[in-house]
Amino acid sequence: MSPRKDTVVNDNSDDPVLAPEPLNVEERDDASLRPRSLQEFVGQPELLDHLSIVLEAARQRGQAVDHLLFAGPPGLGKTSLAGIVATELGVGFRVTSGPVLARPGDLAALLTDLNEHDVLFIDEIHRLPRLVEEVLYPAMEDGKLDIVIGKGPSARAIRLDLPRFTLVGATTRIGLVASPLRDRFGFVGRVELYAPEELKEIVLRSATLLDVMIDEGGAERIAGRSRGTPRIANRLLRRVRDFVQVRGDGTITVQAADQGLALFGVDDRGLDKVDRMILEILCVRFGGHPVGLTTLAQSVGEEPGTIEDAYEPYLVQQGFIRRTPRGRIGTEQALAHLGLAQTLPNLEN
Ligand SMILES: Nc1ncnc2c1ncn2[C@@H]1O[C@H](COP(=O)(O)OP(=O)(O)O)[C@@H](O)[C@H]1O
Ligand SMILES: [Mg+2]
Repeated sequence: MSPRKDTVVNDNSDDPVLAPEPLNVEERDDASLRPRSLQEFVGQPELLDHLSIVLEAARQRGQAVDHLLFAGPPGLGKTSLAGIVATELGVGFRVTSGPVLARPGDLAALLTDLNEHDVLFIDEIHRLPRLVEEVLYPAMEDGKLDIVIGKGPSARAIRLDLPRFTLVGATTRIGLVASPLRDRFGFVGRVELYAPEELKEIVLRSATLLDVMIDEGGAERIAGRSRGTPRIANRLLRRVRDFVQVRGDGTITVQAADQGLALFGVDDRGLDKVDRMILEILCVRFGGHPVGLTTLAQSVGEEPGTIEDAYEPYLVQQGFIRRTPRGRIGTEQALAHLGLAQTLPNLEN
């Protein structure tokens, strides 16, 4: 056994860091629908273009790829892209996440276990504890691992060489990634909300994989109500599949999609109960005056982070919410969408 394993790696057999986490049903289905290659990945043309150049260049040089960071709202394909990077390069893929890496030793164990050129994926990298992050800096920059062995006066620092690896980070909050960490990524790719046309393609692809019959119109309907988000498109597809199986003839048509989605509380713009509650609170309870994130989150009964990551981006993109330095504001479009004839205060000046 190599000395570095004796000194650095604890016995991790029952450690949550290295033991695979159990998947819930949605995560398992996510995995089965995940695009596996750049070819299969729909949308994000600019990002894919840049990424394929980065990958091809590294391949030609026979080097490990620069560290990559993917940022953007949940469900837009960050984890999928990380896996694709490893697949395209034909290297190993190790997965962990910021909150799971509680101690520097957890990260050290992963790093020393990598093979040359492997991809190490750290999801929610903005949630890495500071001390763990500090282990990452020399590892990313110089391929070195600094560790301290022992305690008190006999403690000594040693520096180990790591295999060359590619760190792929993902974050829903680029603003919370410390700048020294951000600066160490050679490439930062932002994933954007998808266009309805792209979501339609994703729905049709997933339907094929799930063996569901669907026509063009049905796919368009589901796409139009997916809030720009592939994960939601897949989720709605599964719900409507259930609906047509039980109440229909097994084929997803426009009518079947409309009925199924109405039943599950998704409206014609793709908003669900929580979205509408958010708009109602902003427009009615606060009458269009700015509302702080914490107050809004408390009123809805969600975490502020969930509001910010999962709900807000689409509501802002659709013009239902405006973010101002003083807080969130419901717009006239939101009022109209809720079917309320009320006027909002003019806060422009
Ligand atoms: N560009 C895409 N093309 C096809 N399916 C996609 C795409 N992006 C995401 N998906 C689907 O959405 C699911 C969630 O994507 P994921 O990569 O887990 O998102 P994130 O990590 O950004 O939350 C995937 O399992 C996949 O089925
Ligand atoms: Mg993910």
